[in-house]
Amino acid sequence: MNISVIGAGYVGLVTAAGLAELGHDVVCIDRDQVTVSAINNKTPLIHENGLSNILSRLVPKRLIATTDYKVITDTDLILICVGTPSKPDGSINLRYIKNAAIGLGSVLSSKKGYHVVATRSTIIPNTTKEVIIPIIERYAGNKVGFAYNPEFLQEGKAVQAFFNPQRLIIGELNKRAGNVLLKAFKDIPAAIFRTDLTTAEMIKYASNAFLATKISFINEIANICQRAGVDVYDVVKGLSFDYRIGGEFLNAGIGFGGSCLPKDVAALIYASMNHFGYRPELLRTVLDINEMQPSKMIDIAESKLGSLRNKTIAVLGLAFKPNTDDIRNAPAIGIIKLLLAKGAVVRAYDPQALDNAKRVFPQRVDFCSSAAEAIADSDCVLIATEWDEFKNISLYHGKMVIDGRRALEPSKAKSICDYQGVSW
Ligand code: UDX
Repeated sequence: MNISVIGAGYVGLVTAAGLAELGHDVVCIDRDQVTVSAINNKTPLIHENGLSNILSRLVPKRLIATTDYKVITDTDLILICVGTPSKPDGSINLRYIKNAAIGLGSVLSSKKGYHVVATRSTIIPNTTKEVIIPIIERYAGNKVGFAYNPEFLQEGKAVQAFFNPQRLIIGELNKRAGNVLLKAFKDIPAAIFRTDLTTAEMIKYASNAFLATKISFINEIANICQRAGVDVYDVVKGLSFDYRIGGEFLNAGIGFGGSCLPKDVAALIYASMNHFGYRPELLRTVLDINEMQPSKMIDIAESKLGSLRNKTIAVLGLAFKPNTDDIRNAPAIGIIKLLLAKGAVVRAYDPQALDNAKRVFPQRVDFCSSAAEAIADSDCVLIATEWDEFKNISLYHGKMVIDGRRALEPSKAKSICDYQGVSW
């Protein structure tokens, strides 16, 4: 098939590369010339395991990038993969979705024959029906079919997840539109669920809200466990035998960050309250607990050291999770802001996210080139991301360590340092 993908960011480029690998001819359309040139030069701006390998083999044979929407006149299926960031009030910003709909609608107006537009971006239920379809039909009439196909890619494992998803959710305006999407993914082994557009949109939000809820749930249980003298990680082992509960996504610590879970829960809360007339108390509490967890590290540090003014605090890990350089909504960033507000001297290290963090803190943080360098001369070490290299306990001899991610095994760590877990 000939497929065009609008938006060559994280979701768009992984989707485009995956579809090209499946044998389709794919064009990526992005308004940013630097992004486009990087793809055409086989040096993508985002880092995902396996992505460069696909680009090096398939650009320009089956995958090219352009800024020009006109190429979609040669394709059978368009996938909208643009960002849907948050506005300051937490609501979803549909600016890029609307721009994409206008851009492709105006080109589709001159295209003959049937065409399917499917969205992969996370969008509030009813957005395809109330925003995307009206814009495109205004330009192109009713010769376009519509579908919604949410992605569930986790950063760091996105390429692998593209080829082995647990499910393929096809939200379709009608069977004809859904069939085109199914044809594009026909070689992907996954359970397939076909449903209407709005249900598919909601499945994406419910998935991320559930994952976020699991994390805040276990953090709440962890806080109770800690007071009861119980290790929450042993409790999770006991829980995991019950298949109804499972053991995944129950790692207690300083909570969830990243570009999806915090944003999507906030957008769902906003839409629920402002568009659907329902106040989602559970989801509000999920965010409240998540906001509280990182500051527990500071509370523990103060309880041990007294005032943090002029104390040297080493922060290990800046990315929102290991194996990425992404610091969006990373708990470590909020922790550093609090430390600076309290007058602490901050020494920080991350194996991949230093450059991004330097842009957030151009002056007041002392960025180090290794964990050992950050730890040396510190009064206290905070572990904010569980990178493998931080699991080497010999780094921490004689130090005060507060572990926000269960990077260290408590009994071993306690034998060589003053160790305290954030909720264990
Ligand atoms: C998430 C969803 O997992 C994915 O399906 C969706 O498409 C996009 O959002 P991602 O943002 O890449 O993926 O990160 P994820 O691996 O889910 O981790 C999110 C955050 O939760 C991280 O900060 C991580 O450290 C934290 N986390 C995860 C926990 O605190 N405890 C856990 O048990 C699991």
